[in-house]
Amino acid sequence: MKPVKVGLLGLGTVGGGTVNVLQRNAEEISRRAGRGIVISHASARDINKPRICKTDGIKLTENPIGVVTDPEVSIVVELIGGVTLARELVLKAIANGKHVVTANKALIAKHGNEIFSAAQKKGVMVAFEAAVAGGIPIIKAIREGLTGNNIEWLAGIINGTGNFILTEMRDKQRDFNSVLAEAQRLGYAEADPTFDVEGIDAAHKLTILASIAFGIPLQFEKAYTEGISKITREDVDYATELGFSIKHLGVSRRTKNGIELRVHPTLIPKRCLIANVDGVMNAVLVEGDAVGSTLYYGAGAGAEPTASAVVADIVDVVRVLTTDPENRVPHLAFQPESLSDTPILAIDEVETAYYLRIAASDETGVLANITSILAENNISIDSMLQKEHGSDNKSTIIIITHTTIEKNMNTALQKIHALDVVDGDVTRIRLEHLDAD
Ligand code: NDP
Ligand code: HSE
Repeated sequence: MKPVKVGLLGLGTVGGGTVNVLQRNAEEISRRAGRGIVISHASARDINKPRICKTDGIKLTENPIGVVTDPEVSIVVELIGGVTLARELVLKAIANGKHVVTANKALIAKHGNEIFSAAQKKGVMVAFEAAVAGGIPIIKAIREGLTGNNIEWLAGIINGTGNFILTEMRDKQRDFNSVLAEAQRLGYAEADPTFDVEGIDAAHKLTILASIAFGIPLQFEKAYTEGISKITREDVDYATELGFSIKHLGVSRRTKNGIELRVHPTLIPKRCLIANVDGVMNAVLVEGDAVGSTLYYGAGAGAEPTASAVVADIVDVVRVLTTDPENRVPHLAFQPESLSDTPILAIDEVETAYYLRIAASDETGVLANITSILAENNISIDSMLQKEHGSDNKSTIIIITHTTIEKNMNTALQKIHALDVVDGDVTRIRLEHLDAD
């Protein structure tokens, strides 16, 4: 059988890694796919730039439209990034009857509903394993491996750059900007690194995970998004003293009122496996009613780990090229007409526990004032730590609460902040016990 021809959009970190993996493992890959796979046509902004891969035998162009309209190409692999041009190219590829593989989580989270609908009409596949958690086959695990389960919740460290920064800051006392620069050098960071640092990239990924876990349309605009830029060394140290790690976590949980969809820094008990996932590694915990708790771990970013997922998608597409489109695994795990309209919960309605750090005057009654405000708002305290500063008559109070509704916490924090004895803002970091790891 003739080899399948692939058109590649982008020859950067992931594009270059994909060329390398496809070339190096060509024989094993064709034994698995049942036929050869060759990249015949590729585009980049500047085709004369030095590359991490060899491009001999590949027709190179600076015009990506040429790739998506090339009649010889059966599968278009989009590794450009961004949403405007990528959306245009992917829709054009679909309109031209080509299957698509992409690592672009922003594109899928924001335009996936439109893209999958176009692909469904045209009978082509759009595969996006590399869009979530780099090399970890988490899409396949949830969409296929856990298909017998009612998924109850999932929680994951799904941004490699953010986890790398938090780990280096904690273990080597490095400053934020120098670690971010290293993540950029290593090819982990997004073209706009604020996506990594402010939680946007993790929110894109969580949006995708929630859709395939709960059978809901992609709703990125409803995700609550908070990044790691405000995490201080002080909080990392107090968390450690109390037996927790601070991780940037994406959490999506089915509740009786709707689905939680939130990314934010989170205290996790150190005894949880996921609390010990460091550096660029990602991990996703998925709780299914039948299987219980399952944990998926691996490199969350970088050229070849991501290429591993891209190539797996290409092979999947090659294997089903001739199957009836009606009998393929649905893009979002559930049949398109069976997606549900379960609402996404506003962050105010989310239930979680909290870590609070309060700077206050070291005088009689301060602690009583604070604890009575918490009690008035139905917030019960799990543990507390008070650090006296000595000379300036100030103290730092750390409180770990039991689970409460976020709007109760917001009301309590406003009142605590208004106390004369409290200095500056109260630091609030959400806390998850993730019991079933
Ligand atoms: P890079 O910036 O390294 O590569 C982007 C490639 O696209 C480059 O070859 C670039 O050309 C080309 N390109 C960019 N803009 C245009 C344009 N306007 N027209 C034509 N070509 C263009 O990005 P990555 O490889 O890191 O990321 C690619 C995708 O993979 C993104 O969606 C990203 O989110 C995703 N991803 C990245 C991971 C990683 O670890 N890096 C992991 C998982 C997903 P040129 O080289 O000439 O500038
Ligand atoms: N910038 C992303 C990260 C790349 O650091 O996780 C992988 O999606």
